[in-house]
Amino acid sequence: MHSLQSNDTPNESSRLLLAKLWRQIAPTLAENSGRVALALGCLLLAKGGLLLIPFLLKGLVDSLNQTPVPAPAALILLMVVAYGTARFANTLFAELRDTLFGRVTERAMHRLGLAVFKHIHSLDLAYHLNRRTGGLARDIERGTNGVSFLMRFFIFNIAPTLFEIAMVTGILLYNYGVNYSLVVLLSVALYGAFSFRATRWRTRFIREVNAADSDSNTRAVDSLINYETVKYFTNEDFEAERYDQSLEQWEQARRKNRLSLLALNGGQAVIIAVSQTLMLGMAALSVQGGNMTLGDFVLINQFMLQLFIPLGFLGFVYREIKASLANIERLFLILDQQPAVTDKPDAGTLAVAAGAIEFQQVDFGYGQERQVLSELQFRIQGGETVALVGASGAGKSTVVKLLFRFYDPTGGAIAIDGQDIRDVTQQSLRRAIAIVPQDCVLFSDSLLENIRYGRPDASDEEVEAAVAAAHLVEFVSRLPEGLATQVGERGLKLSGGERQRVAIARAVLKDAAILVFDEATSSLDSESERAVMGAFRALAGHHTALVIAHRLSTIVDADRILVLEDGRLVEQGNHEQLLAQQGRYTDLWQAQQREAAQILDHP
Ligand SMILES: Nc1ncnc2c1ncn2[C@@H]1O[C@H](COP(=O)(O)OP(=O)(O)OP(=O)(O)O)[C@@H](O)[C@H]1O
Ligand SMILES: [Mg+2]
Repeated sequence: MHSLQSNDTPNESSRLLLAKLWRQIAPTLAENSGRVALALGCLLLAKGGLLLIPFLLKGLVDSLNQTPVPAPAALILLMVVAYGTARFANTLFAELRDTLFGRVTERAMHRLGLAVFKHIHSLDLAYHLNRRTGGLARDIERGTNGVSFLMRFFIFNIAPTLFEIAMVTGILLYNYGVNYSLVVLLSVALYGAFSFRATRWRTRFIREVNAADSDSNTRAVDSLINYETVKYFTNEDFEAERYDQSLEQWEQARRKNRLSLLALNGGQAVIIAVSQTLMLGMAALSVQGGNMTLGDFVLINQFMLQLFIPLGFLGFVYREIKASLANIERLFLILDQQPAVTDKPDAGTLAVAAGAIEFQQVDFGYGQERQVLSELQFRIQGGETVALVGASGAGKSTVVKLLFRFYDPTGGAIAIDGQDIRDVTQQSLRRAIAIVPQDCVLFSDSLLENIRYGRPDASDEEVEAAVAAAHLVEFVSRLPEGLATQVGERGLKLSGGERQRVAIARAVLKDAAILVFDEATSSLDSESERAVMGAFRALAGHHTALVIAHRLSTIVDADRILVLEDGRLVEQGNHEQLLAQQGRYTDLWQAQQREAAQILDHP
């Protein structure tokens, strides 16, 4: 089970977890305190009815058994009705309690779900690149369910059952002497101690099941997301084999879990059976010896039944609580995750004037081992269009990620209009930049909604204007459903060029001071490319624009071109100046010209 015992296997003490849980649900409880109080009142009434039942039974049996003159029928009938009423009250108030409290647990689940969602969105890109969507979804689902279970049972089962045990012991002690209450206390103590130890021993099996469950879900989701790749390489069997392996692990974990449950349940049953037999035997002997009435015998038997049912339930609840705690610890692990990129407490909003960008001696690497950007220094004036070129992997997209502050540089600083981007809120920073990303993925929604995503409150007219600006009109007019067309999961029903133009339309709607265009590596046919670049140029006109280009022909008219090599700025200038320098840019340019010529020669 090596993969299950990974570093992130949670192992927090239950106490700490409960404290965290409490912090999560306390506001909801406080807010609904009236409802909670009513539910507690119902609980007391239900238990009151339950405690009355053995006494009513005893009264009935003794009246029926009364010699030589039987009790009057009216009295007996009255007791029967009282018995029925007590039973009904018990059930009714228990139901009312659950109904009243249901709203509170659902509200708490709602809150927690939302908090987790917001929290995950607040985490940095590095976290999201490492996350495993399938497993994460499972952890969240199990966690919120666990919270709901804990809330219901902690409040309504443990405390009341303990109260009931105390009452029963007291009643037995008062009415029948020390022996009976001693048996009750001993068996309860034994039962409790056994359940506690056995359950603690079982927790690791539950964890194993959870880990295996998340693991297999991760596998399944990952494989389905990569459907096309699986088909390209005809690796269906390979995928099935891997899924099979992880399901196998899950099955093994479940088997161990079940066996351990058998051991626990078996042990508990033995303790209950022995003590119940003992009590019954003692009572039977007393009746036979004439020290007790038949009614007493019935009362003791009834109390034992009533006591051990909730006690057995308490065992179940304790077990489930441990399981729920194991479930929620993964959820709290997510909540404990701190984003690497955070706003300073006193961060202000970015004040954008011209939209000038400055990189000052920026160093950066994704990990310790490899430096991706080294002492990168450049300045883009407000309104200027600057192109960033360089080989694949040179660090061009990384420059954009730093500008968006998905990561912080390890050295140097980045400023917009003279303000260090670490000193302003991430929200205000990102609002100031519109991007057409290198791989543009869309939401599984209509074309219209995907474009409107650039500014959710944009009117239909504004969206149409953006569609026109992004040269999408002709494409949309050819679609039978027009803008209402569904684009498929991650927008995969559109071509790469179409997706990119959707991204441009979004950027148009966002209408930010700074514009970034990260050209797709997959080269578009020249007509689509002209459409995309034309749309972009029209947009760039009155903005500060940073264009990352793979095909140099698209950026010959940029105000300035920065040439990046291995994360260093090696040359800069406009097209003519750079050609005159006969350096890296000239090499790149000539290589691409040769390629273009070859394609023309051998189409
Ligand atoms: N999240 C990441 N974790 C680790 N390494 C990364 C990460 N993202 C990028 N890299 C590495 O950083 C280097 C620079 O990547 P970057 O995406 O900036 O290249 P690029 O210049 O945009 O290339 P391309 O022209 O192919 O888009 C690459 O070698 C890449 O492998
Ligand atoms: Mg890139």
